[in-house]
Amino acid sequence: MSVKSGFSKFNRKQRIEYLVNHSELSESDALGLNNFNAPNDDQQHIISEMIENYIGNFPFPMGVVSHMLINDQSFSVPFVTEESSVVAAASKACKYWAERGGFKTKIEGLTKKGQVHFTWNGNTSLISTYFGELKFKINAATCDLTSKMEQRGGGIKEIELLDKTNELPNYYQLDISFETANAMGANFINSCLEKMAEVLLADKELNNEKYQVEIIMSILSNYTPDCKVICWVECPIEKLQGWNNELTADEFALKFKQAVDIANLDISRAVTHNKGIFNGIDAVLMATGNDTRATAASGHAFASRSGQYRGLTTISLADGLFKYQLELPIAVGTVGGITQIHPVVKTVMSVLNNPDAPGLMSIATTAGLANNFAAIASLITTGIQKGHMKMHLTNMLHGFKVTEAERNQIITHFTNNAISSAAVEEYIQLIRKSKS
Ligand code: MEV
Repeated sequence: MSVKSGFSKFNRKQRIEYLVNHSELSESDALGLNNFNAPNDDQQHIISEMIENYIGNFPFPMGVVSHMLINDQSFSVPFVTEESSVVAAASKACKYWAERGGFKTKIEGLTKKGQVHFTWNGNTSLISTYFGELKFKINAATCDLTSKMEQRGGGIKEIELLDKTNELPNYYQLDISFETANAMGANFINSCLEKMAEVLLADKELNNEKYQVEIIMSILSNYTPDCKVICWVECPIEKLQGWNNELTADEFALKFKQAVDIANLDISRAVTHNKGIFNGIDAVLMATGNDTRATAASGHAFASRSGQYRGLTTISLADGLFKYQLELPIAVGTVGGITQIHPVVKTVMSVLNNPDAPGLMSIATTAGLANNFAAIASLITTGIQKGHMKMHLTNMLHGFKVTEAERNQIITHFTNNAISSAAVEEYIQLIRKSKS
């Protein structure tokens, strides 16, 4: 396919026409790209300007996990996800834990970091001695950017010079700690960093006939170990009875612990364990217009902080108490980004009672622990396929384009029969043959 320059200057209709002419997209399927336009012109306009080269809206289902009890407060939490069983799994865990005291959360800091990566070919002791003065200049230069953020309780918390010349010739970092109030803060941090880079470049002490600064890049770090939530559930072991009554409370606790221990020692299992946590977190982040990739990248890096990738949860069964905990770095925003403009995000925030950033950190992390708890509880008892395939059956039926009557018959049949793609296909053929 040839690369067309100026594609971004096309309007939406021209872009779609281009795709019809240069791909296997048919004209009739192309018309379908209009099917998910927002019904209101203003909303459609906002969505169409959120990204470059816009061609259409991409619908995802949104469901609600009700009765998520966090710190004694009950929330209805919208989840946006493509995976059939995620809402059902979190709902089951939330109901189970609401009957046992609910989830607890604690915010362990809100500090985020950014870095200016640069080289300087002078003597390290010179820049170290000069750094106090440089810091003063940097603070003065970023004043315009930081004053509003300071009014909201955020701003620059610390500026450090890190000497990395042993790792890479002439390489230094400005390592800056920020607080960004209720914003995720990426734009604020990056703007501050670029201003700091300008200060480094313009500084006469650092740039002269003998030595010079070269800026490599200025960017926030998505690794946020100082912006962290701890979320846990706990109850006496004997009260664990009731997930599905396949195991006694003691057996459930012990097997649950074994599953968590395995995630702590085996990378293949740890990744899947953590993926289940992100099933819930991503669904809340999607619904609230937050950055799923930043949180996932940070979470997985945090999972490797000991040098080995491990599960993000820990468990204790001491003194007859089951305590299960998730510790997660998670940077989210409830202002800025698309949170105030996206038409559905505004609705979601209302359903969540308009939380501040720490509140949303708590909710998203709880969603993660709820999904993970449901996954482990199912895996150590019935397995996940039974529940998962029950939810997935309706997706399969859409794929087979069944009639309403066939659908009812199939759902009844599979209430008591194992569901698999092959079994469903076979049964559909059987009922269609019996009718012809
Ligand atoms: C599926 O999306 C997530 C699980 O695989 C998580 C896990 O295994 O813990 C069920």
